[in-house]
Formats: sequence, structure tokens, C-alpha cells
Amino acid sequence: MTYATLDVSIGDGIATVAVDRPEVLNALSSQVFADLHEATARLRDDPTVRVVVITGAGDRAFVAGADIKEFEGLDANRAIARTADGMRVYDNLRRLPQPVVAAINGYALGGGMLLAVACDIRIAADTAEFGYPEIRLGVFPATGGTVLLSRLIGPAAARAICLLGERFSAGRAYELGLVTKVVPKTGLSAEVRRVCDLLKGYSPIALRELKAVLNASLEDGFDAARDVETRAYAELFRHGDVKEGARAFLEKRPPRFAALPGPRG
Ligand code: COA
Repeated sequence: MTYATLDVSIGDGIATVAVDRPEVLNALSSQVFADLHEATARLRDDPTVRVVVITGAGDRAFVAGADIKEFEGLDANRAIARTADGMRVYDNLRRLPQPVVAAINGYALGGGMLLAVACDIRIAADTAEFGYPEIRLGVFPATGGTVLLSRLIGPAAARAICLLGERFSAGRAYELGLVTKVVPKTGLSAEVRRVCDLLKGYSPIALRELKAVLNASLEDGFDAARDVETRAYAELFRHGDVKEGARAFLEKRPPRFAALPGPRG
């Protein structure tokens, strides 16, 4: 499957999705959102894909935000429709059964930072720059951008990022807990590969259930999230992977986990 604005490659259990518009620093046009929606829906149902990587084409940007050229044609209704298109992409990423790693290879601004925030793990090149600059353009980070960032790194830091609109370094992103690791730019792919290999070795069913639980703790209240956690934990015991994990530990060998059996019933 080819996409107008994405470069998607699948190999060795890892799907790499690069937003591919380097001439505009990979800005998110309506076509990018449509392509990302299609691509994430396909990856969700591909049992050969154990980990998904999101990155940006070229050597300058992960994604430099929404395509500002499309702003002029927007009225209130179109703005709502566009927001819905963006949110279903960010929701798809969070809800993929596979873990999603953001390989942040440059500017991650506005909707680009939000794209990274919608991933599970964020690894940044030391040259990457972050921020929500929307306020400089007379808007603010919609598409769930204020909400998700606040829940992820806490309301105080998120508030300052939204209101000030300043760009900040990968080092600062690490201090804020926004990225898990900062590496020299030349070492980014190796570190991303290391993390993917780690994730690929874990039980796909356990990862799927764990993601659902982590999503619930981000989205629901305390009791509801804890109920989701308990139900998902029970779900694991309907499959053989728990026993295989324990047996492999006791037999001092690597575990052989099962592929995803399909959507949870
Ligand atoms: N939407 C559309 N085009 C964009 C873009 C965006 N979000 N970000 C960059 N581009 C385009 C530029 O217009 C430029 O195109 P041109 O060569 O036809 O003039 C090209 O990408 C390169 O960007 P440029 O601004 O020349 O690079 P720079 O090194 O001077 O600055 C940035 C890099 C990221 C600081 C700057 O491009 C920028 O601030 N981008 C907008 C970020 C933003 O506000 N995002 C949130 C949008 S809601």
C-alpha cells in the first residue's frame, strides 16, 4: 500500500511510518491525516507488525505542526471537521494494540508534538525542538492537544507550554518527562531499534492489554481505571502467555509468546 504523504515500510516485525513532506517540514495537511488514518487502521489488523515507529522524512523535522497554508480556507465548521480528522488519528495511535515509538528526528511543533504525545514512547535526537507555537498564530493547540499534554506531563508545565508558545530543547523535553531518552542525532535509529527489539520480545497480548489500561488511567477516573486494570489482568489469564512467561523464566530460556489472536472478544 502506498500513500501520497507517507513512507511506510514493514520489516522484521517493525512498521515504520514516516510523514513524507520534507519540503514543508512534514506539516500535517488534510491528506496527511487521511493517510495516517488509513495506515494506522491497516497496521492495527496486521499480525506481523509487533511495533510501530512514527517519524519524519528528511533530516530537519519530525513534524512542524498543522499545515498553515490550509488555515486560510477554514471556517468554524471546517475547523471542527479537521479537528475530528486529527483526533481520530491520535486516538488510533493510542489505541493500536501494538506499542508505538516516536522517533523524533527534528522539529516536533504544534500538531507534530501532539503526534509524538499520542505515541507510547518518545525518543528524541538531541537536535530536536519541541513546542506548541499555535498561540503565536492566534489559535491554540486543539485536536485534544491541551488535554493530552496536561494529562501526560501535568497541568502546570502544559499550561506554560500552551500559553507561552516557546520552542524548547530535547533536553528540556526530557526534564519535563515528555521524552524518555535523548540521544545524539546519529544514534537515533540505533536507539529506536533497541527499544523496538525489546518491545518485540514481549507478549503482544500483554502489551495490548497494558496499553488499554494505560489509556484508561489517562482518560478515566481512578475507580473506573482500576476496574479496567483488573479486567485486563484477568483477560491475560485466558491466554497461555502468562504461563509461558513463567515457565520460560524457571527453565532459564527466552519465552515464546503467541501472536495476537485477533480483536479482543
Ligand atoms: N505549515 C506549512 N508550511 C510550513 C510549516 C507549517 N507548519 N512549517 C514550515 N513550513 C514550510 C515553510 O513555509 C517553508 O516553506 P517555503 O520553503 O516554501 O518558504 C519550509 O517549510 C521551510 O520552513 P522555514 O520556515 O523556511 O524553515 P526555518 O528553518 O526558517 O524555520 C521552523 C523552521 C520550524 C521554526 C518554522 O518553519 C516554523 O515556525 N514553522 C511553523 C511551526 C508552527 O507554527 N506550527 C504550528 C502550526 S499550527
